[in-house]
Order: sequence, then C-alpha cells, then structure tokens
Amino acid sequence: MTDPVIARYKPYYHELEGGKTYLWCACGRSQSQPFCDGSHRGTGILPVKYTAKAAGEEVLFCGCKHTADKPFCDGTHNNLKGIYDTDDPDAPEYAHIPVVPAGNDAKARLDGGCFVCSVADLATTTEGALSWAPIITVADGANHQAQFYFAVAPGRSPVIGFGDRHVVLLLTAGHGEIDIGGRRFAVGPNTGVYVRPGELFQIRVKSALTAFVSTGPLAVAPEWHPKMSNTFDTAHPERAVGIDEAKRQSMADRFFQMLVDKSVGSDLVTQFIGEIPLSKAVPHRHLYEESLVVIKGEGFMWTEYGKAAVNAGDVIFLPRKQLHSLECTDPGGMLVAGLIYPGDNPSINY
Ligand code: FES
Repeated sequence: MTDPVIARYKPYYHELEGGKTYLWCACGRSQSQPFCDGSHRGTGILPVKYTAKAAGEEVLFCGCKHTADKPFCDGTHNNLKGIYDTDDPDAPEYAHIPVVPAGNDAKARLDGGCFVCSVADLATTTEGALSWAPIITVADGANHQAQFYFAVAPGRSPVIGFGDRHVVLLLTAGHGEIDIGGRRFAVGPNTGVYVRPGELFQIRVKSALTAFVSTGPLAVAPEWHPKMSNTFDTAHPERAVGIDEAKRQSMADRFFQMLVDKSVGSDLVTQFIGEIPLSKAVPHRHLYEESLVVIKGEGFMWTEYGKAAVNAGDVIFLPRKQLHSLECTDPGGMLVAGLIYPGDNPSINY
C-alpha cells in the first residue's frame, strides 16, 4: 500500500444533502477533492463512505488525508509542516484595514459579530463579596456560549447556579477554593473548573480572586441560591484542572493544553490554554463558537475589514465560521485560554 498524498493542508467545508452517501478520497490523488474519482486504483487505499445524517449537515472533510478520524478533519494537518501557517501583517492588501476602537460598552466590534472586550472597563454589579459583569451575551449575537467576569473579595461569594447549563470557570488571579455541591477544590491562577448541569457552586477566597465564567448553552445571568445543595455528579469527581506541562500537545511550533474537556466529563464544552509566539496566524474559521481570554501579551484580532487591539485581561469572541486571525505583537508571546462550544477539538480550523 502506498502513502496518501496531501491534497491540501486544510479541510474542505461542505453542507451535505440529508441521507446522501459521499465517497471521500483517502488517497489524495483525486482531481475532484474531497471526493473520490477512482484515482486510488493500484494504491491499495480505498475511499471512505459517509452518509449524511441530516439535510444541511456541516462537515469538514480532511484534505491532508492523514486524519485519524476519517473522513473528517481532526487537526492533524496543523502538524504536517512543522510550522504553523502564518501571515504577513504588513502585506500591502492589509494597509487599508483600520484599527477599530472600543465603544461605550468596552467592546471593539469587528466583522460578523466578532468583538474584543476590554473587561477592565466593564461596569460591574455587586452581590455580596462578588462583583460581576456579563461579557458575552445573546445581545452580542452569541448563539451558544455566554461569559461573565467575576471578581470575588476576601470571603465567600453567593451560592451560584446556572440551571441546566454546563459551567466552566477560568481562574486568572488569586487563590481559594470552589465548593461544588459540598465538594471542595483548591484553585489558583490558570486553573479550569467544571460545574455540571444542575450543580451549584460557591467561591471561597482569602485574597481577591478573578475568574471568567462561561456557560454552554448560553445563560442570561447567574442565579443566586440561599444555600448550597448537595447535588454533585459523582460519575465525574475531578473538576479542577491546572497547568501540567506533561499534558501539552503540539500544534506545529505552538503548544496547547486541554483544561476542562472529556477527561473531566465535559464533552460539548471544551477549555484549553495555549501559547502563541510573535506572529500572525493565517486567516481561518471554525465550526464552533469560541471565546479567548488573553492572560498575557498583546496584539491584534483581525477580521476581513477591521482589527482591534488586544491586551492582557481582554476577551475575544468569535462566532462560528467568522474569518479571523490573531496576531501576537509581543516578543514574549501571548498566553490565551480558550473555550469552544459545541466542540471537543480546538485544533480543527478551515
Ligand atoms: S485536513 Fe487532514 S486533519 Fe485537517
């Protein structure tokens, strides 16, 4: 059997016809990518059949032919060249792209509902030891995930719930404990925490703590509860995930680590933390809705017709399928924590 040929280093987006069977080219030699034209004869590689589950089903057929999830992209294409695809921010075609400033709502709004939020400029509401503000809402055009900023003063936050939503926290400063249904988890900077649907939580801190709290599907606002319930899904006892270099995955010359993901029981909401070197990514899209908290570094978020400055502490919101590119202008690199929903693999892009 011969090796597959790389047809291209990214997947092919298609909207499928319900019930129709497609024959994906696995050998890479077809002239009708991503579909088979019979060119595999003699290679020992056979095409892979896929029958669409529903009309309008959106798929990303692998173009590099090295996926482990045939016929779909699993992100393997990012690692085939050894370097991540980058772009020249000084290219002449970008000379007319303006820098979009933040509006009165602390958000610099780019194309297609993408925005950069200067979280430090948001007005907050106080509930006991907790000051909070919405960052990503349905009013911003979000369809899948919501995000809130939490600052907790020494003491205890209220008991908080988000109904039947999956809740994922990113702690960015301070140390403390999170009580989820009577179980306590130690937390500190760059820790991800997962709260299952129906569970309540309370944050207990000795010194000030900040967190970015995401829900999927999106929630309008936190609910305050008079006392902690003992609801805790014991099928998933691990809930706090910190930085662990042994868990780093490479994406060409970049690295990321999963925080809240399937390993702690979250298979639709996925959180990761990653380093971005001095560079501008090639413009690309995702099929999931994504938010990025910038923990360290600075740069620009680019869309087709505008770009916005990005600094540590800001949040970037990216709707599904929005063409975008994150540029890091900091020689020391950028550290970001991302949350994708619905999705389980942040390395799939097209
Ligand atoms: S295009 Fe092959 S894994 Fe993404």
